[in-house]
Amino acid sequence: MKTILITGGAGFIGSHVVRRFVKKYPDYKIVNLDNLTYAGNLANLRDIENEPNYEFVKADITAGELMKALFKKYRFDGVIHLAAESHVDRSISSPMEFIYANILGTVNLLNAARVIWEDYTDKRFYHISTDEVYGSLGATGFFYEDTAYDPRSPYSASKASSDHLVRAYNHTYGLPTVISNCSNNYGPFQFPEKLIPLAIHNIKNNKLVPVYGKGENIRDWLYVEDHANAIDLIYHEGKIAETYNIGGHNEWKNIDLIQLLCEIMDRKLKRSAGTSANLITYVKDRAGHDLRYAIDSAKIQRELAWKPSLQFAEGLEKTVEWYLANEEWMKNVTTGDYQKYYDKQYTKR
Ligand code: NAD
Ligand code: TYD
Repeated sequence: MKTILITGGAGFIGSHVVRRFVKKYPDYKIVNLDNLTYAGNLANLRDIENEPNYEFVKADITAGELMKALFKKYRFDGVIHLAAESHVDRSISSPMEFIYANILGTVNLLNAARVIWEDYTDKRFYHISTDEVYGSLGATGFFYEDTAYDPRSPYSASKASSDHLVRAYNHTYGLPTVISNCSNNYGPFQFPEKLIPLAIHNIKNNKLVPVYGKGENIRDWLYVEDHANAIDLIYHEGKIAETYNIGGHNEWKNIDLIQLLCEIMDRKLKRSAGTSANLITYVKDRAGHDLRYAIDSAKIQRELAWKPSLQFAEGLEKTVEWYLANEEWMKNVTTGDYQKYYDKQYTKR
């Protein structure tokens, strides 16, 4: 039986990866290591928490000696590392948390693997990263695996730094690493600080929907289960020392996305057309707001036969349905500090 460490498994993407691996691979023991920050939520894994091949360990990846002790105890065969501080806006207001979790945390895991793994045969250290490391595009062009890094927010700079360290540990120590850089994910269990669940939550509660700047920034959206599928493929079939870009070929200007979401919400909530769109409010732009991200995912499509399964309209509809059907989940994650943080944030343009 192989034992796989998945870090950040109580978060948005991590919970989909943990669920997929626990269900699909009964021969693997899945250890989910997470320190349950505001974004970590064990309710995301209720349906699999009693499975015999699943174990949760509450631990902080910034604790280096503890990581080594856990590597010794569990004898992990592989690592899928997702734990991170993940929101650009928070990285602007509190950059140091990103430095500790994303850079120091990643190095601690690399060190534990390097020192505790006796030989690297059949081992694998897989780092989950973002397309934001490549910087920002103009109106045309794509990010390729060999696009030069040009991170521009504390979040993307911390992820770029961790990617560099992962590659350095491969180059210097021969640690068997692999990296993927994915575009914006959406779907169930995403914390309502990111655009889509935040807008769903606000529309549902008749609160304003904040659109930064002029709403002209562009993101390439991918349904989270398509990302989890790509992670599964790369973990099992990706080549050591390689990088894979993952994206939906699904670019949306923020304001167009929000308009589409408003139409879906009006329909689902049986409100008259235009009700939700009335909540759209242009607010002060994000500092250093990257204009456009777009991924070329030809490599993973060609080499690992991956492709996104859902059209955006369908994925967005499914996502809205999930949030509306899971009011209790939303209520639990939007109490206390959440209100303070999000009510303060917006200044009208
Ligand atoms: P998330 O914020 O929903 O979840 C992050 C998880 O990591 C949480 O459960 C949190 O408790 C845990 N965590 C944070 N700091 C930790 C620490 N010090 N020790 C242990 N656990 C810690 O994030 P997400 O959106 O699921 O992103 C997961 C990974 O995927 C991140 O590495 C992110 O950079 C990357 N990524 C995200 C996206 C996206 O669109 N969300 C796109 C590409 C890549
Ligand atoms: P976000 O979901 O924070 O992801 P990222 O910054 O990693 O791309 O934001 C997606 C886009 O939506 C980004 O261009 C910023 C914008 N945005 C808003 O216009 N309003 C909001 O309330 C949020 C959270 C984001």
